[in-house]
Order: sequence, then structure tokens, then C-alpha cells
Amino acid sequence: MDMMEFLRTRRTYRRFEQRSVAPEILQECVDAARIASCGANRQTVKYIIVQSPEAVAAVQPLVHWAAYLPREQGAPKADEVPTAFIAVLQDENLPGANDMDAGLALGSLTAAAWAHGVGSCIMGAIDRPALTKLLALPEKMRLCCMVALGYPTHKSHLVEMQNGSVKYYLDETGDYCVPKRGMDEVLIKTV
Ligand SMILES: Cc1cc2nc3c(=O)[nH]c(=O)nc-3n(C[C@H](O)[C@H](O)[C@H](O)COP(=O)(O)O)c2cc1C
Repeated sequence: MDMMEFLRTRRTYRRFEQRSVAPEILQECVDAARIASCGANRQTVKYIIVQSPEAVAAVQPLVHWAAYLPREQGAPKADEVPTAFIAVLQDENLPGANDMDAGLALGSLTAAAWAHGVGSCIMGAIDRPALTKLLALPEKMRLCCMVALGYPTHKSHLVEMQNGSVKYYLDETGDYCVPKRGMDEVLIKTV
């Protein structure tokens, strides 16, 4: 797959096969995030891999899916849930924690997953107090987001934006259609 095709298909996935992702792949995702560029090379972003079936099941009710879709369409059913999560944390014991670094790390993490055919959903709509307790996070270890992971059972297509709507939707086969602004809109000029 060439790089642009890789980037076109490395999308958000929300329904998954019920087979686990190998621990080595999850470790590689964190390793890819670990070496991402970051401001002043401060490396404040930390991770927790959630892979045991019990821990994964405990996380499921604490994340919220697809705000643009009715729950019955957006939330995975019991036999479609992600089979792993990675918690992305900011270690505020270290100076310079910032979410731009976390964003770059997330780009690398999700790309490393997709290189193995593992789809992901970065999740910011999460029950932070409950997850902080569940993951037994020490003070100053701030939960930034969760990344849901698994082998997707649907596709996701980039579509032309209609009437300025950023809302993704499902097509008749249940695949995601994700509108993106066109190049003519985002590239202001070349000087
Ligand atoms: C910072 C961030 C937070 C997100 N939080 C959620 C979330 O809580 N739940 C969810 O279902 N999707 C979440 N998403 C996924 C976005 O909805 C998705 O990226 C967007 O619709 C565009 O789709 P694409 O990733 O395929 O381009 C989040 C994405 C990002 C980058």
C-alpha cells in the first residue's frame, strides 16, 4: 500500500472482530508513540496497555461512541466491541506536558496499529474520574484519552463534504462515510 492509500484508510473504526490483538502489536504501537517528535524532546506522554479480557470489559462502559450517530448505529454491539485499549497519559511530574505532543504520539500509535490491519478509535469522550480509578493512576498522571483497538468489521470512506457538514454517517452497508474539506478550501495559497 502506498503512503497516501495508507493515510486514506487509516481512519476511525468503531466495530471490531472478536479476536484479540497480539500483545507484541500493542507493544509496538506504544513503541511507535514513544519515539514520536515532541516539544524540547521532553517525552511527557505515557501509556497503559489494556489487553486482559476482564480489564477491556471494565473499560467498555466508560467510553462514549460516535456523537453524530444515534446510539444504536454508533456504539458497537456486544459482539463488535474493541478487544484492546491503550490509555494515553500526560505525566505532569515532568515539565512541558502538552497535548500537541500527545497528538503526534497518537498519530504514530494509530499508524503503527494500522500497519498490522488493526483499526483504532481515539476517544476523548470518556469517564475520566472512573477510568483514573480503574487504571489506578497516581496523582499527576493525567488521562488524556483512550484509544480503542481491534480488527475492523467495516470500512471507512472519505467523501466530499456537502453543505459544509462535518458529520460522518453510515452508508447502506454500515460503512462509515467521513466528509473532509477539499484541498481548495484548506490550502489557502502557495507563495
Ligand atoms: C481528539 C479526538 C477525540 C475523539 N473522541 C472520540 C470519542 O470520544 N468517541 C468516538 O467515537 N470518536 C472519537 N474520535 C474520533 C473522531 O470522531 C474521528 O476522528 C472523526 O470523526 C473523523 O474520522 P476519521 O478519524 O476517520 O478521519 C476522536 C478523535 C480525536 C482526534
